[in-house]
Amino acid sequence: MTTKTQNFQPVLDEINDEIRPLLGVGGEVASYIPARARVPAAQFGIALRTCSGHEACAGDAAVPFSIQSVSKLFTLTLAMQHLGERLWERIGREPSGNPFNSLVQLENEQGKPRNPFINAGAIAVADRLLSVGDAKAMVLALMSSLANEAVAFDDEVAASEAATGYRNYALANFMKSFGKIDNDVSSVLDMYFHQCAIRMNCVQLARAAAFLCRDGAHPFDGRPAVTTERQTRRINALMLTCGTYDAAGDVAFSIGLPCKSGVGGGIVAVVPDHLTLAVWSPALDATGNSLLGMKALELFVAKTGLSVF
Ligand code: DON
Repeated sequence: MTTKTQNFQPVLDEINDEIRPLLGVGGEVASYIPARARVPAAQFGIALRTCSGHEACAGDAAVPFSIQSVSKLFTLTLAMQHLGERLWERIGREPSGNPFNSLVQLENEQGKPRNPFINAGAIAVADRLLSVGDAKAMVLALMSSLANEAVAFDDEVAASEAATGYRNYALANFMKSFGKIDNDVSSVLDMYFHQCAIRMNCVQLARAAAFLCRDGAHPFDGRPAVTTERQTRRINALMLTCGTYDAAGDVAFSIGLPCKSGVGGGIVAVVPDHLTLAVWSPALDATGNSLLGMKALELFVAKTGLSVF
């Protein structure tokens, strides 16, 4: 039996059984906005979709959460679709080695963010998308098509992000001062704050990111490809090197899969040519990654032997 047809339900059930006793023990829920601070920590969900469309899930896989920086994966995908190589004139492809909202490298690097997964990089991607069209509508249309059901913004979270996002205003204005942002800072940040506020559950997220395990083919057959095979490899490469903030080296070492995390506690992980996983648990470790989400991915890799290495 190959992983394409394998029944992963027993593996996910085992992982859920091993994670549940650890819920509420370590880590901290992101509390920078009220809507995030009141999310109960003791939740855990896991879901996967194989490249041939088999699915499995366990725990709180149907509970919606704020996908936060996991959205950067999908806005990058849109920008690669629409801009191709031109995207890289404004955004780098190197790990930053700094926290996701750091300002320090931007000054020395003339307002060009290190990569599309730190806040500065995602804000630059949002600017590129606004130059192409209605970026908020584009991202919702992409996510809804990929998840095969309607996906929406959480307006309360978007409004709180806008009311408290002082560092993001600083990052956007700083890049604008270098001539690296074309659109109004307020429109760019409106897009960025909304993408952070997309609400999805693990099942939807595993479906939505499933094009990454199948060379860019849409997760649901019969629809146009999402990205080319080459672009898909590149997105996976960026996830491995830059997708988990300044923990990317450790994550490659201990899990060995391309991952993208968000401060809502969600993580998408890809086993190219096999499957895409989504895990969620709101309590974060010191690097801003979901503590038990990472633990669950470590367990998955140990139990299945799946890795890109
Ligand atoms: O923009 C922010 O800082 C928050 N909305 C957190 C985003 C996030 O998940 C961390 N990002 N890389």
